[in-house]
Amino acid sequence: MQALYSRSMNRIRYEIEVQSGVDLTHLNTFGVPSTAAAYTAIQSPRQLEMVARSFAAEEVLILGGGSNMLFLHSPQRWVLHNQLVGRGIMSSRNGFSIVAAAGGEDWHEFVKWTLAMGLGGLENLSLIPGTVGAAPIQNIGAYGVELQDVFHSLKAMDLQEGIWKTFTKEDCQFGYRNSLFKEEYPGRYFIAEVQFKLTNRNHVLKMDYGAIPDQLSNMGVSEPQPQAISEAVIAIRQRKLPDPSTIGNAGSFFKNPIIPLIHFKKLRERFPEMVHYPAGDGLVKVPAGWLIDACGWKGKSEGAVGSYKHQALVLINQGNATGNAVWAFAKKIKQSVRQRFDIELEPEVNLIAY
Ligand code: FAD
Ligand code: EPU
Repeated sequence: MQALYSRSMNRIRYEIEVQSGVDLTHLNTFGVPSTAAAYTAIQSPRQLEMVARSFAAEEVLILGGGSNMLFLHSPQRWVLHNQLVGRGIMSSRNGFSIVAAAGGEDWHEFVKWTLAMGLGGLENLSLIPGTVGAAPIQNIGAYGVELQDVFHSLKAMDLQEGIWKTFTKEDCQFGYRNSLFKEEYPGRYFIAEVQFKLTNRNHVLKMDYGAIPDQLSNMGVSEPQPQAISEAVIAIRQRKLPDPSTIGNAGSFFKNPIIPLIHFKKLRERFPEMVHYPAGDGLVKVPAGWLIDACGWKGKSEGAVGSYKHQALVLINQGNATGNAVWAFAKKIKQSVRQRFDIELEPEVNLIAY
C-alpha cells in the first residue's frame, strides 16, 4: 500500500495536497482515535477527477461528517474528505423546485436553508448529522420520511472507471437504511452532488409519526407549516439522542431487524409487549432499541463504552474508548439479542476495518 501511494501520488502531488498523519479523532462523531496515513480535503470536482485517474475505489476511504462510521483501525486507505460546497435552486415549476446541493454541504444547514426558502419536504429530516453526499448511502430516514421520498437524482464520480455518472431514484435502489451504494458498490462512487424535488406550495406534511402530534400541540401549533414540523422534530431529537459534541455516538448502532411474521408470532407468545410494525408481505419490523432494552443493556456501561440511558440503540463513547472497545460491547449486545430472541442484529454504522 505504501509503495502504491508513493508511485501514484508522485504523479499528482503537485496538484493535490496530501497530508500524512492526520488525526481523525475529531472527524468521527464517536470520537474514537484514528489517524489517516494519507488525507486530502476534496474541494473541487477537478481534484476528484485526478484522484479517480490514479487510484482504484478500494484504495480510498470517503469521509463525510464521520457520523455513521466506527474506526476499528487507522485507515490504511487514502482518506478523501468531502468538502465540496454549493447549493442552489435549479428550476421551479408546477409547485415544485429542483434543488441541488454539493456533497460536502452540512445536511442540517442545507435543510434549514430549504426551509428558509419556503420549500417543503426535508423538515422531518432535520438535525440529522453529516453531509448531503452521505445521505443517499443509507437513504437516511426519520419521523416517517426517507431521503428517497424527496430525492431527484445525484452525480457521482465512479472511482473505478474514472468517469462522472448520474443516478436517478430507480438507479439508486433505495431501501430501509440501504442503497446500491451501501449494498452493492461500497466505496466505488464518490457522491459529489444531490438534487431534491421539493414543494413550493401545497406541502405534503407528515405529522402523525411518533411524538410529533404531542410536540406540535405542546408548541401551541394547530396548523403547522414545514418550519414548525422541523422545530418539533428538533425538540424531540434533542430530548432522545445524545449530542455528539458532548457524548460520542453515531446514532442508532444497529438497524431495526425485519423478521418473518411466523418468527414474530412465536416471539409474541413469550413477549406479548414486544413493539412491532408491519414491514410488507409476511414481514415484521421490531425496534432494535426495544430488544436491547429488554436484554437489560439500556444505560449500562463497560469502561467508557455504554448504551445511552434514554435510547438503548445508541452506543456511546463517554471518554476515551477505542473503536474496538465499542465493537466488543456491540458484539455482546448482539449475542444477548440472539440468545433471547433468535434475532441477528446488523450494524447500521459502517465499520472501518482497513
Ligand atoms: P460518514 O459517516 O462520513 O460516512 C458514512 C458512509 O458513507 C461511509 O461508508 C462513507 O465512506 C460513505 N460516504 C460518505 N460520504 C460519501 C460520499 N460523498 N460519496 C460516497 N460515499 C460516501 N441516520 C439516519 O438515517 N436517521 C437518523 O435519524 C439519524 N440520526 C442520527 C443521530 C445522531 C446523533 C448521529 C450521530 C447519527 C445519526 N444518523 C442518522 C446517522 C448519520 O447521521 C447519517 O448516516 C449520515 O447520513 C452520515 O453522514 P456523514 O457525512 O457523517 O457520513
Ligand atoms: N424503545 C425501547 N427502549 C429503548 C429504545 C426504544 O423500548 O431504549 C422502543 C420505543 O419505546 C419505541 C421503539 O422502541 O416504541 C422505537 O424507538 P424510537 O422511536 O426511538 O425509534 P428507533 O426505531 O429506535 C428509528 C431510527 C432513527 C430515527 C428514529 C425516528 C433506525 C435504526 N433508527 O429509531 O434513526 O431517528 O427511528 O424516526 O431505524 C439512525 O439511523 O441513526 C437514527 C437515529
